[in-house]
Amino acid sequence: MVLSMYKDAKVIGTDLSPIQPRWVPPNVEFFVDDAEADWTFKPEFDCIHVRGMAGSIRDWPRLIKQAYNALRPGGYLEVIEIPRFDLMSDDGTYNDRTALWRYYGLVNKASEMAGRSLSLECDFPKIFKEAGFEEYHVTIKSLPMGTWPADKKMKELGQWIAAVYASLPARSLPPLINAGVGPVLVSKRTALAFSPESWGWNWRRQRSCLPTVHRRSRNGLYMHTSISEFLPHRLLLAWKC
Ligand SMILES: C[S@@+](CC[C@H](N)C(=O)[O-])C[C@H]1O[C@@H](n2cnc3c(N)ncnc32)[C@H](O)[C@@H]1O
Repeated sequence: MVLSMYKDAKVIGTDLSPIQPRWVPPNVEFFVDDAEADWTFKPEFDCIHVRGMAGSIRDWPRLIKQAYNALRPGGYLEVIEIPRFDLMSDDGTYNDRTALWRYYGLVNKASEMAGRSLSLECDFPKIFKEAGFEEYHVTIKSLPMGTWPADKKMKELGQWIAAVYASLPARSLPPLINAGVGPVLVSKRTALAFSPESWGWNWRRQRSCLPTVHRRSRNGLYMHTSISEFLPHRLLLAWKC
Protein backbone atom coordinates (compact mmCIF):
# COMPACT_ATOMS: atom_id res chain seq x y z
CA MET A 1 0.00 0.00 0.00
CA VAL A 2 2.77 2.43 0.97
CA LEU A 3 4.61 1.59 -2.24
CA SER A 4 1.58 2.43 -4.35
CA MET A 5 1.66 5.87 -2.68
CA TYR A 6 5.37 6.36 -3.49
CA LYS A 7 5.45 5.31 -7.13
CA ASP A 8 8.91 6.82 -7.72
CA ALA A 9 10.49 4.66 -5.04
CA LYS A 10 12.12 1.41 -6.05
CA VAL A 11 12.03 -1.37 -3.50
CA ILE A 12 14.05 -4.56 -3.36
CA GLY A 13 12.98 -7.28 -0.94
CA THR A 14 15.15 -10.27 -0.12
CA ASP A 15 14.41 -13.58 1.56
CA LEU A 16 16.03 -16.98 1.77
CA SER A 17 12.82 -18.57 0.49
CA PRO A 18 10.83 -17.63 -2.64
CA ILE A 19 7.65 -17.09 -0.61
CA GLN A 20 6.65 -13.64 -1.80
CA PRO A 21 3.38 -12.99 -3.59
CA ARG A 22 3.38 -12.11 -7.31
CA TRP A 23 0.70 -9.44 -6.96
CA VAL A 24 3.00 -6.62 -5.92
CA PRO A 25 3.28 -3.06 -7.29
CA PRO A 26 5.60 -2.75 -10.33
CA ASN A 27 8.18 -0.81 -8.30
CA VAL A 28 8.86 -3.85 -6.06
CA GLU A 29 11.26 -6.64 -6.87
CA PHE A 30 12.02 -9.71 -4.75
CA PHE A 31 15.25 -11.70 -4.78
CA VAL A 32 16.18 -14.91 -3.07
CA ASP A 33 19.25 -13.90 -1.09
CA ASP A 34 20.95 -14.75 2.19
CA ALA A 35 21.20 -11.68 4.42
CA GLU A 36 24.03 -13.39 6.31
CA ALA A 37 26.19 -13.76 3.18
CA ASP A 38 28.40 -10.91 1.88
CA TRP A 39 26.14 -8.16 0.54
CA THR A 40 26.81 -7.18 -3.07
CA PHE A 41 24.82 -3.91 -2.92
CA LYS A 42 26.61 -0.61 -3.45
CA PRO A 43 25.87 2.27 -1.05
CA GLU A 44 22.61 2.81 -2.92
CA PHE A 45 19.69 2.72 -0.49
CA ASP A 46 17.85 5.57 1.23
CA CYS A 47 16.22 3.17 3.67
CA ILE A 48 16.85 -0.41 4.78
CA HIS A 49 14.12 -2.14 6.76
CA VAL A 50 14.67 -5.29 8.82
CA ARG A 51 11.78 -6.94 10.68
CA GLY A 52 11.12 -10.24 12.36
CA MET A 53 14.61 -11.66 11.77
CA ALA A 54 15.31 -12.72 15.35
CA GLY A 55 16.01 -16.43 15.31
CA SER A 56 17.39 -16.20 11.76
CA ILE A 57 20.59 -14.21 12.25
CA ARG A 58 23.73 -15.41 13.99
CA ASP A 59 25.81 -12.27 13.73
CA TRP A 60 23.76 -9.09 14.23
CA PRO A 61 26.78 -6.71 14.29
CA ARG A 62 27.81 -8.00 10.86
CA LEU A 63 24.29 -7.58 9.46
CA ILE A 64 24.05 -4.01 10.78
CA LYS A 65 27.51 -3.16 9.40
CA GLN A 66 26.56 -4.49 5.96
CA ALA A 67 23.36 -2.42 6.10
CA TYR A 68 25.41 0.66 6.99
CA ASN A 69 27.68 0.08 3.99
CA ALA A 70 24.69 -0.30 1.65
CA LEU A 71 23.10 3.02 2.72
CA ARG A 72 23.68 6.33 1.00
CA PRO A 73 24.80 9.18 3.27
CA GLY A 74 21.57 10.55 4.81
CA GLY A 75 19.89 7.16 4.55
CA TYR A 76 18.51 5.28 7.52
CA LEU A 77 18.14 1.79 8.86
CA GLU A 78 14.94 0.63 10.54
CA VAL A 79 14.98 -2.54 12.67
CA ILE A 80 11.75 -3.81 14.24
CA GLU A 81 12.27 -6.74 16.57
CA ILE A 82 10.90 -7.92 19.89
CA PRO A 83 13.62 -7.43 22.54
CA ARG A 84 12.80 -10.74 24.14
CA PHE A 85 10.85 -13.69 22.77
CA ASP A 86 8.43 -13.70 25.66
CA LEU A 87 5.21 -12.14 26.90
CA MET A 88 4.54 -9.90 29.88
CA SER A 89 1.52 -9.07 31.97
CA ASP A 90 0.85 -6.27 34.44
CA ASP A 91 -1.58 -8.28 36.56
CA GLY A 92 0.47 -11.47 37.02
CA THR A 93 -1.84 -13.63 34.88
CA TYR A 94 1.14 -14.63 32.74
CA ASN A 95 3.27 -16.59 35.20
CA ASP A 96 5.38 -19.73 35.60
CA ARG A 97 2.29 -21.85 36.20
CA THR A 98 0.99 -21.20 32.67
CA ALA A 99 1.89 -23.55 29.81
CA LEU A 100 2.65 -20.51 27.65
CA TRP A 101 5.33 -19.27 30.07
CA ARG A 102 7.10 -22.64 30.01
CA TYR A 103 6.69 -22.79 26.25
CA TYR A 104 8.46 -19.47 25.73
CA GLY A 105 11.25 -20.58 28.07
CA LEU A 106 11.67 -23.78 26.11
CA VAL A 107 11.74 -22.15 22.68
CA ASN A 108 14.15 -19.45 23.90
CA LYS A 109 16.54 -22.06 25.20
CA ALA A 110 16.30 -24.08 21.99
CA SER A 111 17.00 -21.01 19.81
CA GLU A 112 20.05 -20.15 21.94
CA MET A 113 21.32 -23.71 21.49
CA ALA A 114 20.94 -23.29 17.73
CA GLY A 115 23.11 -20.13 17.86
CA ARG A 116 20.27 -17.98 16.52
CA SER A 117 18.60 -16.56 19.57
CA LEU A 118 15.00 -15.41 19.30
CA SER A 119 15.68 -12.99 22.14
CA LEU A 120 17.71 -10.00 21.04
CA GLU A 121 18.97 -8.68 24.31
CA CYS A 122 22.06 -7.43 22.51
CA ASP A 123 23.10 -3.81 22.87
CA PHE A 124 21.79 -2.34 19.62
CA PRO A 125 22.95 1.26 20.30
CA LYS A 126 26.51 -0.09 20.74
CA ILE A 127 26.20 -2.20 17.57
CA PHE A 128 24.94 0.83 15.62
CA LYS A 129 27.78 3.00 16.90
CA GLU A 130 30.41 0.40 16.03
CA ALA A 131 28.92 0.01 12.54
CA GLY A 132 29.40 3.75 11.95
CA PHE A 133 25.91 5.17 12.60
CA GLU A 134 26.15 8.48 14.40
CA GLU A 135 22.51 8.97 15.28
CA TYR A 136 19.98 6.43 16.46
CA HIS A 137 16.69 6.29 18.26
CA VAL A 138 15.03 3.45 20.17
CA THR A 139 11.27 3.20 20.90
CA ILE A 140 9.56 0.39 22.79
CA LYS A 141 5.87 -0.21 22.19
CA SER A 142 3.85 -2.82 24.02
CA LEU A 143 1.21 -4.51 21.92
CA PRO A 144 -1.55 -6.59 23.51
CA MET A 145 -2.03 -10.21 22.51
CA GLY A 146 -5.67 -11.26 22.36
CA THR A 147 -8.91 -9.40 22.76
CA TRP A 148 -8.57 -8.67 26.49
CA PRO A 149 -8.08 -4.85 26.35
CA ALA A 150 -11.15 -2.71 26.99
CA ASP A 151 -9.97 -0.02 24.58
CA LYS A 152 -11.44 -0.63 21.11
CA LYS A 153 -8.25 0.13 19.16
CA MET A 154 -6.07 -1.97 21.48
CA LYS A 155 -8.60 -4.80 21.29
CA GLU A 156 -8.36 -4.81 17.50
CA LEU A 157 -4.56 -4.65 17.64
CA GLY A 158 -4.60 -7.56 20.09
CA GLN A 159 -6.71 -9.51 17.64
CA TRP A 160 -4.10 -8.98 14.91
CA ILE A 161 -1.21 -9.93 17.17
CA ALA A 162 -2.98 -13.09 18.37
CA ALA A 163 -3.71 -14.03 14.75
CA VAL A 164 -0.02 -13.65 13.87
CA TYR A 165 0.94 -15.66 16.93
CA ALA A 166 -1.39 -18.50 15.95
CA SER A 167 1.63 -19.53 13.86
CA LEU A 168 3.72 -19.80 17.03
CA PRO A 169 4.02 -23.60 16.95
CA ALA A 170 5.13 -23.53 13.30
CA ARG A 171 7.70 -20.80 13.95
CA SER A 172 9.04 -22.62 16.97
CA LEU A 173 9.39 -25.93 15.19
CA PRO A 174 12.94 -25.55 13.75
CA PRO A 175 14.70 -24.62 17.02
CA LEU A 176 12.71 -27.24 18.95
CA ILE A 177 13.56 -29.98 16.49
CA ASN A 178 17.22 -28.90 16.40
CA ALA A 179 17.32 -29.12 20.16
CA GLY A 180 15.54 -32.48 20.07
CA VAL A 181 12.74 -31.25 22.31
CA GLY A 182 9.79 -31.81 20.04
CA PRO A 183 8.47 -35.21 21.06
CA VAL A 184 4.95 -34.32 20.00
CA LEU A 185 6.38 -33.19 16.67
CA VAL A 186 9.16 -35.71 16.07
CA SER A 187 9.59 -39.23 17.40
CA LYS A 188 10.13 -40.00 21.05
CA ARG A 189 13.38 -41.71 20.17
CA THR A 190 14.72 -38.54 18.53
CA ALA A 191 13.69 -36.50 21.52
CA LEU A 192 15.38 -38.87 23.92
CA ALA A 193 18.46 -39.29 21.77
CA PHE A 194 19.07 -35.54 21.85
CA SER A 195 17.62 -34.85 25.26
CA PRO A 196 19.42 -31.72 26.40
CA GLU A 197 20.24 -32.86 29.92
CA SER A 198 23.08 -30.37 29.82
CA TRP A 199 20.55 -27.56 30.02
CA GLY A 200 20.65 -28.13 33.75
CA TRP A 201 16.92 -27.81 34.27
CA ASN A 202 13.94 -30.08 34.16
CA TRP A 203 13.43 -30.19 30.42
CA ARG A 204 10.88 -33.01 30.72
CA ARG A 205 8.62 -30.75 32.78
CA GLN A 206 9.24 -27.86 30.40
CA ARG A 207 8.45 -30.07 27.43
CA SER A 208 5.06 -31.05 28.86
CA CYS A 209 3.67 -27.62 27.90
CA LEU A 210 3.94 -28.34 24.16
CA PRO A 211 0.66 -30.23 23.57
CA THR A 212 -1.32 -27.65 25.59
CA VAL A 213 0.12 -24.66 23.72
CA HIS A 214 -0.27 -26.33 20.33
CA ARG A 215 -3.88 -27.30 21.01
CA ARG A 216 -4.73 -23.83 22.32
CA SER A 217 -3.08 -22.11 19.34
CA ARG A 218 -4.87 -24.41 16.90
CA ASN A 219 -8.22 -23.69 18.54
CA GLY A 220 -7.59 -19.95 18.63
CA LEU A 221 -7.76 -19.91 22.41
CA TYR A 222 -5.04 -17.30 22.72
CA MET A 223 -7.38 -14.92 20.94
CA HIS A 224 -9.86 -14.84 23.84
CA THR A 225 -7.61 -15.68 26.71
CA SER A 226 -8.03 -14.85 30.37
CA ILE A 227 -4.31 -14.11 30.45
CA SER A 228 -3.64 -10.41 29.82
CA GLU A 229 -0.40 -10.64 27.92
CA PHE A 230 1.37 -8.02 25.93
CA LEU A 231 4.40 -8.13 23.75
CA PRO A 232 7.00 -5.37 23.87
CA HIS A 233 8.23 -4.42 20.37
CA ARG A 234 11.38 -2.46 19.83
CA LEU A 235 11.68 -0.01 16.94
CA LEU A 236 15.25 1.03 16.21
CA LEU A 237 16.14 3.79 13.79
CA ALA A 238 19.69 4.72 12.83
CA TRP A 239 20.90 7.39 10.41
CA LYS A 240 24.03 7.40 8.28
CA CYS A 241 25.48 10.91 8.16
C1 LIG B 1 9.46 -13.97 10.73
S1 LIG B 1 9.66 -13.81 9.01
C2 LIG B 1 9.62 -12.04 8.82
C3 LIG B 1 9.24 -11.66 7.43
C4 LIG B 1 9.11 -10.14 7.18
N1 LIG B 1 10.39 -9.47 7.39
C5 LIG B 1 8.01 -9.52 8.01
O1 LIG B 1 8.33 -8.80 8.96
O2 LIG B 1 6.85 -9.75 7.72
C6 LIG B 1 11.39 -14.17 8.80
C7 LIG B 1 11.77 -14.34 7.35
O3 LIG B 1 13.20 -14.32 7.27
C8 LIG B 1 13.61 -15.21 6.25
N2 LIG B 1 15.03 -15.52 6.51
C9 LIG B 1 15.54 -16.31 7.46
N3 LIG B 1 16.89 -16.30 7.41
C10 LIG B 1 17.22 -15.47 6.40
C11 LIG B 1 18.47 -15.06 5.83
N4 LIG B 1 19.63 -15.51 6.31
N5 LIG B 1 18.43 -14.20 4.79
C12 LIG B 1 17.26 -13.74 4.29
N6 LIG B 1 16.06 -14.11 4.77
C13 LIG B 1 16.04 -14.96 5.80
C14 LIG B 1 12.66 -16.37 6.39
O4 LIG B 1 12.60 -17.11 5.19
C15 LIG B 1 11.33 -15.66 6.72
O5 LIG B 1 10.59 -15.39 5.57
